[in-house]
Amino acid sequence: MIEKSARTTPRDNHPSQQRPPWAYYSTLIVITLLPALIYYPPLWKSLISTFSAVNAKRMTSYPHETIQWTSCGKTTDHPLECAYHTVPSDHFNASNPGTGQFPIIRLRGKSAVAGRNLLVNPGGPGNSGIDYVTKAGKHINTLVGEDHHIVSWAPRPRARFQWHRATPTTHRGSNMVASETGTLSLIHRTPMRGPRPLRRRVANAFQYYISEPDMEMMTDTDRTFVGFLEECVAAGDDCPLTQVSTSKDALLESTHYGTIDFRGLFIDVIFPHLQALSGWHLLASKLAPLLQGNATEFFLQYAQMSQYSINTDAFHMIMSNDGLTGPAHWPQDLESLLEGILPKLRGSRFARLANERFYIKQQWKIPRTHPFSPYQGVKLETPPLILTQRYDAVTPVVSAISARDAFPGSRMVIINGYGHCSTALPSLCSARILRTYLNEGRLPETHEECEVDGPIFVRKGDEDDKIPKYVWEDEEKRKTYMAMRDFMKDLLEG
Ligand SMILES: *[C@@H]1O[C@H](CO)[C@@H](O)[C@H](O)[C@H]1NC(C)=O
Ligand SMILES: *[C@@H]1O[C@H](CO)[C@@H](O)[C@H](O)[C@H]1NC(C)=O
Repeated sequence: MIEKSARTTPRDNHPSQQRPPWAYYSTLIVITLLPALIYYPPLWKSLISTFSAVNAKRMTSYPHETIQWTSCGKTTDHPLECAYHTVPSDHFNASNPGTGQFPIIRLRGKSAVAGRNLLVNPGGPGNSGIDYVTKAGKHINTLVGEDHHIVSWAPRPRARFQWHRATPTTHRGSNMVASETGTLSLIHRTPMRGPRPLRRRVANAFQYYISEPDMEMMTDTDRTFVGFLEECVAAGDDCPLTQVSTSKDALLESTHYGTIDFRGLFIDVIFPHLQALSGWHLLASKLAPLLQGNATEFFLQYAQMSQYSINTDAFHMIMSNDGLTGPAHWPQDLESLLEGILPKLRGSRFARLANERFYIKQQWKIPRTHPFSPYQGVKLETPPLILTQRYDAVTPVVSAISARDAFPGSRMVIINGYGHCSTALPSLCSARILRTYLNEGRLPETHEECEVDGPIFVRKGDEDDKIPKYVWEDEEKRKTYMAMRDFMKDLLEG
């Protein structure tokens, strides 16, 4: 590893391009080997892949970095570069010599000096940061400005490596990327010296790793749904559901779903919609005819949606390897298990999302591969800035508070809105605090609250017409607003 510094001059940031000398001979090799290939077809395959790899991979490296990057496209007018990074296959076992590789990606900020990398860890757990940067990196760039490169990674790309199985190992992996690129900031909570950690949504790490899974994650799920109805009623004619009723309580109690069952409505359709507000108008426009007895439009829009991705095999695998599982932590008979989980499941109308997780944890056979448990009282050179929505259907404020309390000196910013993460809807106030933190290393004096800008229920196609006047008239504000407005939409649909 090499020296890294955020104080190098921009001139230092110029890449040096290297092409392996043998690349120039690859064409020659193909011609020479032609007779052999005719008689031995399997050679074709390996030769073609070698040939294209050699010609496609122009390596670029930068002073103060050890990573060799290749160009992998553009987003808006920002170059993207990609690399593979090698890490130990088991960080918790020094005698295991195995290694694994994971892909990393970087969106280059236009005036970022060497070492000004913002590492974005998309959470999930286990979601791909490659996808994240490709689809939504341009919006992060608008939000944080040109003084940072945006770096991310796919934390669990190769099933055969042990290190992908548990989150603590992926955190160590991301710390390695951080140190090799001289990265400035992180979005997860593993302690580091120097960098500015930033958390934009927060699950309770203490419950996640060291206690039985609780329903804390769902603390505000029902409240977010009530918020959907309240905001709809407040939006009046702008929300199609008001054709059914202008009373929030009447809408909440309505069970006139016809042929759609509870799971098909609340779990498969409404729950995912609670995270991304860009879809609230669409949801209301399909629920309105449904509740009036015509399910055609609802089926046309949502028939393809099956259970929300929170219940994929990968998700269970990661959750089970991270947390406490098996006979040592769970009663093994059905009666006792039910006794423990039924009260939890009654707590939320969305709770059945978590149901199967309990049975899987009870029966999980793979031994835990890490001794990790989170710490309290983690002191950092620059304490973290924690941003959260007032009502987030999966990472509630109460979990953000547990993170705030774990880091002395940290500051929490609550956006008085709904949805998953601070980018669920536009809030110029939160964007301003974020920029000050990243660019000047300055936290707000106190914990803060921020308001949301602009309306929530907007018909597709009317988005620009609904931008508030004070935002529209200021170019900087307009750009920030649009980046936050489009962030989730582009991430989900992009
Ligand atoms: C550590 O790695 C070595 C070498 O691969 C292996 O033999 C050993 O079982 C591992 N220990 C644990 C606790 O996984
Ligand atoms: C139900 O809605 C569809 C789509 O809007 C419409 O074509 C159809 O005529 C409606 N059916 C009834 C019985 O109103």
